[in-house]
Amino acid sequence: MSKKITAAITAVGGYVPEDKLTNFDLEKMVDTNDEWIRTRTGIEERRILRGEGKATSDMVVPAVKELCRKRGIDPSEIECMIVATVTPDMVFPATANIACDKLGAKNAWGFDVSAACSGFLYSLTLGASLIESGRYKKVVVVGADKMSAIIDYSDRTTCIIFGDGAGALLLEPNEEGLGVQDSILRSDGSGCQYLHMKAGGSLRPATVETVMAKQHYIYQDGQPVFKFAVKGMADVSAELLERNQLTGDDIAWLVPHQANLRIIDATANRMGLSREKVMINIQKYGNTTAGTLPLCLWDWEKQLKKGDNIVLAAFGGGFTWGATLLKWAYDPI
Ligand code: UT7
Repeated sequence: MSKKITAAITAVGGYVPEDKLTNFDLEKMVDTNDEWIRTRTGIEERRILRGEGKATSDMVVPAVKELCRKRGIDPSEIECMIVATVTPDMVFPATANIACDKLGAKNAWGFDVSAACSGFLYSLTLGASLIESGRYKKVVVVGADKMSAIIDYSDRTTCIIFGDGAGALLLEPNEEGLGVQDSILRSDGSGCQYLHMKAGGSLRPATVETVMAKQHYIYQDGQPVFKFAVKGMADVSAELLERNQLTGDDIAWLVPHQANLRIIDATANRMGLSREKVMINIQKYGNTTAGTLPLCLWDWEKQLKKGDNIVLAAFGGGFTWGATLLKWAYDPI
């Protein structure tokens, strides 16, 4: 009997732009201060993609190139690329298509997934299913957002939070039971009112009025989002442990969405995990939306060991949320 195929992560790539926007820079732009931002969110600086004609795909490309270099493959070997993003280069075609063209990934088909901060988890589950089906051998899953493109830098409630960045993973079949083990994914459209972009879709197409009313920027009512996020992320993470008969002691790492240090702490507490087991890079990148989870794995790759149990957890606009359990597939190179 043939063995069950699982989807193992076999390489990680990442990209963050060089330009930094610090809390002190923001102090000069809006009525805020470093202390407020650090204590309320944990953020110290974020990266911003600057330059005429630069878009999300320009962060996807170096992230995927790095992953191909590390794995020793050519982009033409990629069979499918899924890009999680809410800041696509254009409404259509998909950023995945544009990035594949720039990469020379001639044999890949691809598409974008719009699930805000949970986009990467949704995409990882989709990518893993393609591998598990036995039909695909090399699937690239990317989380990438140029949040600076949709931020109103005169709105202190949102401009302090978000940054730009991209992370990418390669998924390949595994017969040792390594890779994606289980996922719990949820969504609740009634949360739309708290976190959305008012115009630019078919409901309210772009007009001079929508631009004048600043309706093409992120709108967030922070407090209710905070409350739902704490509960949502902690609940699914605890449920995932329970249904896999695991406790915090069995988990090597928690990879939480980097939206707010207080939400991260609440999730870790609920899972019975100490801070040393939690990946936190919010201080240097802020919230890169779909980019946060793969950028954590990119930053921590050298500390991950074959067989490590890793829980990824996210919460975001939609509302969307979820958690995924992984068994890491390789030792540090
Ligand atoms: O990734 C997608 C999911 N998003 C999230 O998970 C975000 C969840 N929400 C949050 O992280 C937090 O709600 C925020 C960081 C957005 C805001 O923190 P908060 O502790 O909820 O602050 P608040 O909105 O309750 O505001 C408290 C006070 C207010 O002043 P008053 O009314 O008490 O006088 C705000 O006007 O802080 C004020 N304030 C600021 N002060 C200095 C709001 N933004 C700022 C600011 N600098 N940037």
